[in-house]
Amino acid sequence: MLPFTRPTLTEQDEQAVLEVMRSGWITTGPKVLAFEQALADYLGGDVTVRAFNSATSALEAVLLATGIGPGDEVIVPAMSFTATANVVVRAGARPVFVDVDLDSRNTDADYVEAALTPRTRAVIPVHFAGLSVDMAPLRDLAEHHRLLLLEDAAQAIGTRHAGRHTGSSGNPTCFSFHPNKNITTIEGGAVATDDAALIRRLERIRFHGIERNTDGDMNVPLWGGKMNLPDMHAALGLSQLARLDAFNRKRRKLAERYLEQLPVHDALHPPEGGPGHSWHMFCVRVDYGALGTTRAAFQQALADRDIGSGVHYPAMHLFGLYRSHGYAPGDFPHAEAIGEQTLTLPLFPGMAVEDVDKVCVALEEVLND
Ligand SMILES: Cc1ncc(COP(=O)(O)O)c(C=O)c1O
Repeated sequence: MLPFTRPTLTEQDEQAVLEVMRSGWITTGPKVLAFEQALADYLGGDVTVRAFNSATSALEAVLLATGIGPGDEVIVPAMSFTATANVVVRAGARPVFVDVDLDSRNTDADYVEAALTPRTRAVIPVHFAGLSVDMAPLRDLAEHHRLLLLEDAAQAIGTRHAGRHTGSSGNPTCFSFHPNKNITTIEGGAVATDDAALIRRLERIRFHGIERNTDGDMNVPLWGGKMNLPDMHAALGLSQLARLDAFNRKRRKLAERYLEQLPVHDALHPPEGGPGHSWHMFCVRVDYGALGTTRAAFQQALADRDIGSGVHYPAMHLFGLYRSHGYAPGDFPHAEAIGEQTLTLPLFPGMAVEDVDKVCVALEEVLND
């Protein structure tokens, strides 16, 4: 069975983790500092990076550190993993959903502008599946309305846009290192920003609110949680980061093969590509209704041919939590169409180009069944 994703773990990764395990210091320490510096060097620009135990906690920490809370509205795309909106609820603010493009799955400045109100404090663009949002118009809009622009790059480590890495611009940008992502720390995340004051607040929120004076005394000036990344995870991250560009080159090669070899069929819609895409996922849309089938049956037919697949994602505003905020079917037609039709095909660096051909042959059979 070819799964839709699989982490690429080697003996080098095992050794890195084992070394920390045997060192006598396994939680946050020198490996985290080294991982943060290596990420900042990788991203380029003039950013500082702080590691977290997930992208969810990193996003949450930025919202808390920038004072977003009750009475505030935060604009988020209706097509993303649910964490993007959940963190807004956790901060006590109101998520305001906007629609996305059918092919890129990304939102844009026009959708965001139409959703602005006097209560809007922030926008969280999501670089879906590793394809960057068109950032320049959004940056202008955010500057004009004095909004926090918090980039959810959970799926976009290694993505490039306008000649630079996503996360290098200075806007707070959050990454995920969950096992499905382009590099993994098992669970983990990070924030990159050029805002030194924000970095100091993030450090406290990340670890119990603790601040240490130069004489070593400890104070807790504000609330903080427990969001730190252990050294064992950071060691794995360092080992993986050294291979990130190679992983992403392989992902690109596989994605390009898909774009060449996908069967041509009225019911099958390939995703948008692009030169800076890091191809975290390869998500097609299938018009199951036109084929007289359901997604579950279509996935089963692929599974019968030893091809795994995934669903990323149902439209967020239709989850119970967000229906209780007043959202309903019909609000965001593109996000809903993607939610109903999306199908994630296998894509991970351990795959061979021949595996892509196998998937395409199976798709052709199932589409024409
Ligand atoms: C767009 C997006 N945001 C946030 C997250 C949360 O990441 P984590 O699992 O590291 O908390 C994910 C994870 O899949 C994601 O895809």
